[in-house]
Amino acid sequence: MCGIVGILGTTAATPRILESLKRLEYRGYDSAGIATLNAGTLDRRRAAGKLENLSTKLKEAPLQGNNGIGHTRWATHGEPSEANAHPHMTDRIAIVHNGIIENFRSLKAELTETGVTFEGETDTEVVAHLLTRYLKEGLSPRDAFHKTLGRLEGAFALCVLIRGEDNLMFGAREGSPLVVGLGSGENYLGSDAMALASLSSRLIYLEEGDWVEMTRETVQVYDTTGRPVKRSVSISQVASTMVDKGNHRHFMQKEIFEQPTVVAQSLGRYLDPNAGKVTLPDMPFELATVPKVTLVACGTSYYAALVARYWIEKLARVPVEVDIASEFRYRAPVYAEGGLCIFISQSGETADTLAALRHAKEAGQRVLVLVNVLESTMAREADVVLPIHAGPEIGVASTKAFTCQLSVLAAFAVNLAAAKGQIDDPQEDAYVAELESAPKLMAQVLHNDAKLQTIARSIAHARDVLFVGRGIHYPIAMEGALKLKEISYIHAEGYAAGELKHGPIALIDENVPVIGIAPNDDLIDKTVSNLQEIMARQGKVILLSDNAEDEAEGMFARFEMPSAGELVTPILYAIPVQLLAYYAAVEKGTDVDQPRNLAKSVTVE
Ligand code: G6P
Repeated sequence: MCGIVGILGTTAATPRILESLKRLEYRGYDSAGIATLNAGTLDRRRAAGKLENLSTKLKEAPLQGNNGIGHTRWATHGEPSEANAHPHMTDRIAIVHNGIIENFRSLKAELTETGVTFEGETDTEVVAHLLTRYLKEGLSPRDAFHKTLGRLEGAFALCVLIRGEDNLMFGAREGSPLVVGLGSGENYLGSDAMALASLSSRLIYLEEGDWVEMTRETVQVYDTTGRPVKRSVSISQVASTMVDKGNHRHFMQKEIFEQPTVVAQSLGRYLDPNAGKVTLPDMPFELATVPKVTLVACGTSYYAALVARYWIEKLARVPVEVDIASEFRYRAPVYAEGGLCIFISQSGETADTLAALRHAKEAGQRVLVLVNVLESTMAREADVVLPIHAGPEIGVASTKAFTCQLSVLAAFAVNLAAAKGQIDDPQEDAYVAELESAPKLMAQVLHNDAKLQTIARSIAHARDVLFVGRGIHYPIAMEGALKLKEISYIHAEGYAAGELKHGPIALIDENVPVIGIAPNDDLIDKTVSNLQEIMARQGKVILLSDNAEDEAEGMFARFEMPSAGELVTPILYAIPVQLLAYYAAVEKGTDVDQPRNLAKSVTVE
């Protein structure tokens, strides 16, 4: 989603801001812009579309100045046009904004009455004009900024430059993250550590309601009331070198293929194969006393939560509730006394998941998070953090984070089962050994990707594709459908195989490919029967299975999977559905790593 970078520097700001914006491209955006302050004067360049368009404009008409702010915008209010792109400017200030100003309509009406005219349709412009009004009323920059913040409702991260103030920058955080980077004789602002990776590793994470007044030499943080506060400095672990694609055509392809390595790394942090035990970090509560587990997440992370429900209920016999974060807190969830709420998020910044986390925390629940980005807000606010150790995930469509989430959730389920006395030592040992086998089996699946590429060509031009599975593989069917939708723009749905007869089967004809996820488990016969029902209606069944030689007859295609136990099969079957989506998208020529309309880190509700 939107990215912010601000530099109060001693050398030309524009190339440095462009470099930082490049690092933020992975978040997803549809326009970009930069404003600089040069000898007391503000100027800007903005462009719809990719950063190249902005670079071209900057080549034609360079921006001078050592102080600047830059932005990648993911449209919320107003189309992704140049007029709506940030920075927004008045004759006094330039501003960039992430988030949504919820009361912008009433503020706009108020400002319009005083004769202000608006250039575009964004909610951000009201902030620019409010601040300008207070400056024109004679308030000092600090008072004007603080007063402006007091008028805003919603979620925002802001970064502001003021004309005539060559050594001053303001930032504010409410709902959307903002980080201060400390340099020597320079200071910076960024929407995350990644934005600042080439500038500084010494970071101050602003807390909710904080705002900051910066010069090149000083950084002063204030809380909502305007009281000066001290916030600690942390050292960023984000590498300053750009993550590259290696020999791969896309980040997504690279991330799919590195899954055996990252899953091995991730499991290595949680499994002790010699002792045959799962080892989790110390927790400020006894897992054995947990009466209920609530799992909350969005998107792909939500499907990881759905898989985990099966494992936790089956192994630990603990009741589990799972919900989508955007629904969870609005339905008056019933928490159990002493319950454990687990929030799963690759980025650790997804606005809905974060809001749900805070809801649970306020209700006195124990809060555990599974995140990939260790410096994220969720990691900082949780009681317990289980990092998934997937490494930076750049492709917007999540792949390796998903299989790492599943690996950690499987380890967690085993640990909980042991803590609850539901499994004994030999059983725990067997589960650990089973999980240990995952990376090797994943590599076997990846080795046969050419076959999946051929199958993908046959679905790439379909209008609709269905994915079906049962039990623990029903969420994998949904994840497969999501991947295909996200990057190939083909309409796809994931169904519980047994549910197909209750409606979706009406969609089946000879043009509809149906991907059947059918490992050789207790449910295989039932799933294969459902696939037969589809074939009887001319549906093109593509079977993913380790044992369906006999049943394969009449099927359109079959992809042979290795056999594995119930903790590993969801991790394994995630791979062919990722590859089918990937190769279908390549066949269609879509923008695989930055699909249209999508953002990697969704920081608005
Ligand atoms: C966005 C991404 C998805 C991701 C979801 C949740 O929609 O495009 O790939 O699954 O957000 O993100 P999170 O960072 O919370 O896992």
